[in-house]
Amino acid sequence: EKDGYPHYMAKEIHEQGAVLRSTLKGRLLEGSVDLGDGVNWTPDFLGSLRRIHLVACGTSYYACLVAERVLERWTTLDVKVDIASEYRYRDVRIGADTLAVFVSQSGETADTLAAQRKVRAMGGRCLGITNVRGSTLAREVHDLLLLKAGPEIGVAATKTFMGQLGALYLLALKLGWDRGDLNPAEAERLASILLKLPYEVERVLERESEVKKAAETFFGFDNFLFLGRGFSYPIAMEGALKLKEISYVHAEAYAAGEMKHGPIALLEPNVPVMVVIPKDGLYEKTLSNVQEARARRSPVVAVASDGDDLICQMADTVIRIPRCDECFSPFLSVIPLQMFAYHVALLRGREIDQPRNLAKSVTVE
Ligand code: F6R
Repeated sequence: EKDGYPHYMAKEIHEQGAVLRSTLKGRLLEGSVDLGDGVNWTPDFLGSLRRIHLVACGTSYYACLVAERVLERWTTLDVKVDIASEYRYRDVRIGADTLAVFVSQSGETADTLAAQRKVRAMGGRCLGITNVRGSTLAREVHDLLLLKAGPEIGVAATKTFMGQLGALYLLALKLGWDRGDLNPAEAERLASILLKLPYEVERVLERESEVKKAAETFFGFDNFLFLGRGFSYPIAMEGALKLKEISYVHAEAYAAGEMKHGPIALLEPNVPVMVVIPKDGLYEKTLSNVQEARARRSPVVAVASDGDDLICQMADTVIRIPRCDECFSPFLSVIPLQMFAYHVALLRGREIDQPRNLAKSVTVE
């Protein structure tokens, strides 16, 4: 049932093109986005929205951090993102103008469910995004968007992160389009990029041998710093989480601009820096952080765009992703980081699908 792959995680990583394709299937229409029968919003409700809260744990939370950036770019809403275990105890403001979105692969995460119940009790409208039909989250929310990722067996979330990104981008595009925040020609353009994305994802999946080589070079290091800016910052966090979870290697993620505010003290030849640096509006800024790392003789592994020659002079190892419009790079840049964690874990002889101390769904607080 692993389709010839040695682990579920490897199989699930390679399913991501198909997962994204099925997430988008039938959703992008002429002039709008259809989120399906589970979502029932009136035009008045959409027009009256001012705030959107995104709440989740772990990898699902990182998907929300990516969504925060895209919602800010495509809509005029005020966006707040929080970890469910924090959100549930905070004094948040909820009103009739607030949409709260709960993202949970399993639909059973205790903190996420508690946060949803809190918003509901305060009169907020709740949308659930989950992979499990019939899960507690799916049953309790007002509106439901189901991922079509298929069962995820590996404890480390991979293909469901891809599905969550797809669903959250559809949500952002719908809100921007239906509320008139996006101009229609721009919305059409974004929709057509989204539709082609599964092919780009498949192109990245074909490049596993590059990542494997990087893992062979770096699997012996015990501490990693992951850096990114903008859309790449949540991806750096997700890459660090994957590495910690399945290889038990210490990895810390920082917004690249924060490096000078502390973590730069960690840099030395024993601490490799994994930098997510696609060619986007913040490229030059992140490049300056790469220079800082080099100056401290930290080995640099860069996830960078095709055609970026400059990065070859700065990084010890470069892993390539296709060039794309900057809002969409997370779909592509996360894949080499998943593969890197997988290969490091493999080389370290870890239990990849069943890492120690972890459960697939966290049903207690
Ligand atoms: C990481 C991972 C966890 C989950 C988190 C939330 O690979 O799997 O961090 O993302 O426990 O789980 P769900 O999405 O089921 O609420």
